[in-house]
Amino acid sequence: MSKLVHNQNSTKTFLLINGNKVEAEKYESLFSPFSGEEIAQIAMADNQLTEEAITAAYNARDIMAKMPAYKRAEILEKVAILLKEKAEEAAEIISRESAKPIVFARGEVERTIETYKFSAEEAKRIHGETIPFDAAVGGVGRIGYTLREPIGVIGAITPFNFPMNLVAHKVGPAIAAGNTVVLKPASQTPLSALFIAELFEEAGLPAGVLNVVTGPGGVVGDAIVEDDRVSMVTFTGSPSVGIGIRNKAGLKKTTLELGSNSALIIDKNINIDEIVDRCIMGAFSNQGQVCISLQRVYAHEDVYEEFVEKFTEAAKKLKIGDPLDPETYISALISRKEAERVLDWIEETKSSTATITAGGNLKEGILEPTIIAGADSSLKVSCQEAFAPVVIVNKVRSVKEAIEQVNDSRFGLQAGIYTNDVRTALYASQALHVGGVIINDVPTYRVDQMPYGGVKESGTGREGIGYAIEEMTELKLVVWNQSENG
Ligand code: SIN
Repeated sequence: MSKLVHNQNSTKTFLLINGNKVEAEKYESLFSPFSGEEIAQIAMADNQLTEEAITAAYNARDIMAKMPAYKRAEILEKVAILLKEKAEEAAEIISRESAKPIVFARGEVERTIETYKFSAEEAKRIHGETIPFDAAVGGVGRIGYTLREPIGVIGAITPFNFPMNLVAHKVGPAIAAGNTVVLKPASQTPLSALFIAELFEEAGLPAGVLNVVTGPGGVVGDAIVEDDRVSMVTFTGSPSVGIGIRNKAGLKKTTLELGSNSALIIDKNINIDEIVDRCIMGAFSNQGQVCISLQRVYAHEDVYEEFVEKFTEAAKKLKIGDPLDPETYISALISRKEAERVLDWIEETKSSTATITAGGNLKEGILEPTIIAGADSSLKVSCQEAFAPVVIVNKVRSVKEAIEQVNDSRFGLQAGIYTNDVRTALYASQALHVGGVIINDVPTYRVDQMPYGGVKESGTGREGIGYAIEEMTELKLVVWNQSENG
């Protein structure tokens, strides 16, 4: 495990401030969400230590702004290489601290490597454009162009559900664009972030450019969001916290990747056997703790019964258990409190006309993959974000009706549609009010270079390396007056 985590025989972690391993006055135990055993003692930064991290990032701005693109790319490329060498160790850290089944943790590490590779490549492609000044009468005799300059200090607040790759989605583009970072990882998953910070150090990132501050959101997060020296906050997490950040951030730029109750439409004439496995992955991978997890299915009446039957049958076969067991598909939710919240939501469906066709219970502390057929849109499992292995399946008479149901949501991150009709696909791509429409796949589809973000309460701004770099740079205009008298 990383040196920021190990202190000889102790499992106490450090903060990383200005390239130094810093101890905190207070430490808190980090427990495995699966077994409940203590994994590490985490340093709890206070206001003053967070201030110090922001000062370090602020003072390192010049170093980064002057670092040439090829050098930034080299560092990012090196991190990707180092991570590849330590891929299994990284996957185990993710699995241990978040209870992500190891098979998915390995997948996350693969994606993280790719995210840093994309960041290295994008670092070399940051450019502005020339402006046709003489298109305006007042522009005759002028030439001009735009530059993309680093924005400065970026506050990155990351979630537990992809503790390595969503750190990469913030730190990668920030460094590619020549910024400095104060990173506050999720309280349940600090070890993945500290592990990556070590790799950056090994790759030659100058001191102060990446600072990692673990501790309570109300202290560390607020200090980052409220400090005037921080130019941008990039956050992935719950809508309520995201809205709070927006309200406190003042004139800072904010990128907010928030939640959703993502939906899939299944049109008539779809071969159900061909899509069941993707639906299982969409609804149940990482225990449904994915912002684009498949939570609502609207199936055409011609295929509804067959889909419910085959989807239910497949869900019942998923192996529940220890996240480190390579056979495990579903393990514990991030906390017992979350499991209890979702059980309450499932309980609510029992007094409605809905039918639970699979799961619905805790088994050895793990919530079974749960399918609820015929759930009314007012039930919490329908209209709020479950962030759990829970999916509803409802019958519709047409794609038009399904689209109305999908759009009847506070959220709008991604939606999927399976259809064999190109006109229906085109119509859906226009009518769905979401950040991304996925045709012939589940809404859970994501590769790391694509634009990713939502509308409505799903957030503002876009991630995906090139798009994040746009958010993390300022556009500067340069105009040259060529006339003799100025
Ligand atoms: C998220 O939960 O927002 C990230 C999903 C992903 O990267 O696959």
